Amino acid sequence: MVNTDNGGNVRVQSLFSCNILLVGFMGTGKSTISSYLVKALGVEEIDTDRLIEQREGRSIANIFETDGEAYFRRCETQLLVELQKRKNLIISCGGGMALQDENVRLMKETGKIVLLTARPETIYERVKDSRDRPLLNHNMNVEFIAGLLEKRRPKYLKAADIIIDTDGRDVSDICEELIEKVAGSTK
Ligand code: S3P
Repeated sequence: MVNTDNGGNVRVQSLFSCNILLVGFMGTGKSTISSYLVKALGVEEIDTDRLIEQREGRSIANIFETDGEAYFRRCETQLLVELQKRKNLIISCGGGMALQDENVRLMKETGKIVLLTARPETIYERVKDSRDRPLLNHNMNVEFIAGLLEKRRPKYLKAADIIIDTDGRDVSDICEELIEKVAGSTK
């Protein structure tokens, strides 16, 4: 079991001199896992979607609507460039971050890329009530999610250093596997 109430587990923290970048389709649990890891490891969290929203002073939906997806993608790449010199971060990435080769190159330079996966049905259940994902707003159904996931899968797999399935598992179990795998891969 991961210890979450010690404000930073020294043994575990010392295993990570790099950043951990969580990538994967919308609804694969990046934000949930990120929050848990931050507590367990006592490290800082960057949520790329939230940071872009803060800086822009508007929602992602508004950015897509007003300036288009390409503008949002440039914000994402810019953020990764800025994070290049930072360490010991849990970086929870927007679901499209791993789709651009340049982003993957930047991410590989600063940390371990952990891909979270889930079945389309699970993803649908997790995101169905959300209104702040412009790509799903008019396509909120399992078929669309399955199609987009299939289209993106090769890019996600190519980017991943570590892959973790989240279907039907609780957060502490997922985080335990993640920590073990990251620790093992940085030995
Ligand atoms: C996107 C995923 C979203 C957000 C934007 C685009 C995508 O993040 O970055 O709506 O292209 O998959 P989450 O994965 O956190 O929902």
